[in-house]
Amino acid sequence: MDRDQLIIPDLKHLPGNFVWGVATSAFQIEGAADRRGESIWDAFCRRPGAIADGSDGLTACDHVDRLESDLDLIASLGVEAYRFSIAWPRIQPEGSGAPSSGGLGFYDRLIDGLLARGIRPYATLYHWDLPQALQLRHGGWAGRETAFRFGDYADQVARHLGDRIVSFATLNEPWVVAILGHEQGIFAPGLRSRAIAMQASHHLLVAHGLALQAIRASSRAEAGIVLNMSPIHPLTDSDADRTKAVIDDGLINRWYMDAIHYGHYPADVLAHLGADSPQQLPGDNTLISQPVDFVGVNYYTRSFASTGEPWSAEKTGAAVTDMGWEIYPDGLTELLVRLDRDWNHPRLLVTENGAAFADQRVDGAVDDHPRVEYLATHLAAVDQAARQGVNIAGYFVWSLMDNFEWASGYRKRFGIVHVDYATLERTPKRSAHWVGELLRQWKALRAQRVS
Ligand code: FCB
Repeated sequence: MDRDQLIIPDLKHLPGNFVWGVATSAFQIEGAADRRGESIWDAFCRRPGAIADGSDGLTACDHVDRLESDLDLIASLGVEAYRFSIAWPRIQPEGSGAPSSGGLGFYDRLIDGLLARGIRPYATLYHWDLPQALQLRHGGWAGRETAFRFGDYADQVARHLGDRIVSFATLNEPWVVAILGHEQGIFAPGLRSRAIAMQASHHLLVAHGLALQAIRASSRAEAGIVLNMSPIHPLTDSDADRTKAVIDDGLINRWYMDAIHYGHYPADVLAHLGADSPQQLPGDNTLISQPVDFVGVNYYTRSFASTGEPWSAEKTGAAVTDMGWEIYPDGLTELLVRLDRDWNHPRLLVTENGAAFADQRVDGAVDDHPRVEYLATHLAAVDQAARQGVNIAGYFVWSLMDNFEWASGYRKRFGIVHVDYATLERTPKRSAHWVGELLRQWKALRAQRVS
């Protein structure tokens, strides 16, 4: 532990009610696929070549059948909050109709188990596992009807679980769903059309608005949305790269932030999209721009805009994680300060931050010192943002445990707890012990502040 003591970051600017947590998502950890409907990710995993190791989410980390011991594991970290997602196909196997009592029962046990251990439940309604039936029947997010199905599902969840959820996020990373799923085709449902992707992004935001209404109607939980965002830097000083950086920033960051805060998409991005712009109906923008209680920020790295060769961190020799993503903590301060400045001081939560490394378990222990360093430097970056007056309310490590990393399968390990996929045994890594120590120090600091 000595070595890690040296890298406990300065947290003195964080507010006393700052929330600390770990995060997961349903498809990535739950398993128990026989007790839920099929999702678009189940179908995508069956596509030859779609998943790097040919794996799927049928068993994943077997979390559903290991719920009690996983809850004890979360509690052992000393965190105050747990961000998880609810699998839509576990609540509505076909994407519509009455909720499944077995599905609701599982989340009842999860939520009650958290509360019994003094941990606050932060639930995300959509972390990418759309019921496959809606893909077949309505074209998934390309079809407007899916947004209304989502509003109905959100209503059922809010009615049954909304009395105990502390915080609801409607969607996780709509940009990823729209673009990686419908334009780049590397995530489910694997389509390749910019026009469809932009239409999907609009329907996702309409779905967000309908879900917000449903949550407000029957729950007192706070409610918001989770966005993946990063600073976009031009690769060179050329006019072309600078212009591209503005548009890329528009497509990734401003598209969602403007829609949610101002009720319209950025004019320069619409002009750039031309015929690929989404169709909108009257009233959509009011629905989309209802007030949110927070914006969740998922940050992993910065991006570069280039009209030439695409930038690769590995080629430049920058320090990278096992995903090949540049380790760039300053980008988190830059992003948070910019969000604060450009969108009128929103309440922000870092809902995901973390790193994959090729961890090895040696003699029953995992020494993931690079992950400790990643987390420490990024937390210092959050503290720097707080020092500059950003309204930053919490931080969640991605992820509680190693899990199904989408198109990378089980090859990329993001957990602070190691999972042995042969035995499903969990082993807290050095980073998990470090988080425990960090939180002990934080709690002591907080106690000093109030006394
Ligand atoms: C985010 C996802 C999360 C995880 C991390 C590494 O985009 O929300 O599920 O895959 O990346």
